Amino acid sequence: MENSLDPSSTPYFQTLRGFHDILPDDSDYYTLIKKVVRHRGRQAGFRRISTPILEASEVFTRGIGDTSEIVQKEMFSMLSHSGKSMSLKPEGTAGVVRSYIEHGMMNLPQPVQLYYIEPHFRYDRPQKGRYRQFHQFGLEVIGGRDPSIDAQVILLAQKILADLQIADRFTLQINTIGNMAVRDNYNNALRDYFYGKERHLTPELLVHLEKNPLRLFDTKDEDLKILLALAPKLQDFLDAESRNYYDEIKSFLTEMRMPFVENTSLVRGLDYYTDIVFEFWDKHDGAQNAIGGGGRYDGLVELMGGRATPATGAAFGVERIIAHMKDAEVAPPRKDKMHVFVAQLGGVAKKKAVRILSELHDAGVHAIGAVGKASMKYQLELANKFDVDWAVLLGEIEVKDNTAILRNMRAGTQEIMPLPQVTARVVELVGPENLDTYRIGE
Ligand code: HAM
Repeated sequence: MENSLDPSSTPYFQTLRGFHDILPDDSDYYTLIKKVVRHRGRQAGFRRISTPILEASEVFTRGIGDTSEIVQKEMFSMLSHSGKSMSLKPEGTAGVVRSYIEHGMMNLPQPVQLYYIEPHFRYDRPQKGRYRQFHQFGLEVIGGRDPSIDAQVILLAQKILADLQIADRFTLQINTIGNMAVRDNYNNALRDYFYGKERHLTPELLVHLEKNPLRLFDTKDEDLKILLALAPKLQDFLDAESRNYYDEIKSFLTEMRMPFVENTSLVRGLDYYTDIVFEFWDKHDGAQNAIGGGGRYDGLVELMGGRATPATGAAFGVERIIAHMKDAEVAPPRKDKMHVFVAQLGGVAKKKAVRILSELHDAGVHAIGAVGKASMKYQLELANKFDVDWAVLLGEIEVKDNTAILRNMRAGTQEIMPLPQVTARVVELVGPENLDTYRIGE
């Protein structure tokens, strides 16, 4: 019989392709980014929302569009025990809109402004900046149509990038794809154009033509490209309302000195957009690995079963932000430094050590110790490896006298004091500015 305790038969596990552990050093980046998003979001009246990681697949097929690449190729989907299709969320907007409708948020003062920082999942081919589990922070404003709202979402995102000291690495690319009426007219014009030319389209593209003709422009087929070059142009279908709306957004951005590049070929990979679409492009890599993007989605709430409600938003990739921070040598604060190691000899001393550790923790001192039965020498070596400034030593004599030795690990000097005074003395030495305390409500 196979011995499951035999180390040679123990499997060696690794994360799945495209999935990554967030190790403590990288966690500091996530913590900083979350903090900046939280502060900037709060200043602008955004409240946090967190939707489930797993939703009915239809939330996404309907929301993002079943002709989109994300839905067709990139969803992690599975069947529930009762045979219902469920998917890991590939993006945040569809779930937020589902939640807005489900919880009657249309009854709140409008617009409702929400932000999220969440893991998302796409079955992408893993490569630099492209993972199967990644994080996004997103901003959604639901229940308002005003160019100033679109401009404010962009400006808020820009402030977050500026706080993270990477804003100057990107250009803002913007485009308009027209309001819902324009999109409908243009889609019909494309369908008319392809009437009689169906033999040039695969069955899959015929479905796109029916459901969302704009998707045809994603083609790599040379013959279709030639046909599309002669097809009606979206820009010619823009009506006065759509043009004015877009012009106003641009004038707000100009007023706020937010540079932008107008890019009429910018289309986004999700079907729900109307009017403005935008992306923040890396100044070196261009469209490859955009750090974030968004746009208006005035039809989505109704499409998902709510009343017609205009909305706009954006989302940014946290891993891509971190890569830029590292490249720009922006380091997050490191707050995990250990101050004190508590070393002890014997069982009675260990009980006292645990008490001292607990007192130190309550006082906001980073302290570890009482981790084994090793000799004092070994424990002091360990204290050095943990790079502490101070060690509290509880030997047999100290236990008897109810004292402790406080050792300065840098200078190699030490002082003896009554045990009850140790915490106060350590707090004094560590310095109030370095203490790690918090109160609920802070
Ligand atoms: P998106 O452009 O699909 O938009 O994704 C936003 C950002 O998520 C991208 O710019 C990128 O930084 C990051 N991202 C996407 N896929 C990956 C991946 N496989 N690995 C690493 N990072 C990735 C949306 O998701 C829309 N929901 C944005 C939005 C919000 N529009 C309106 N409101």
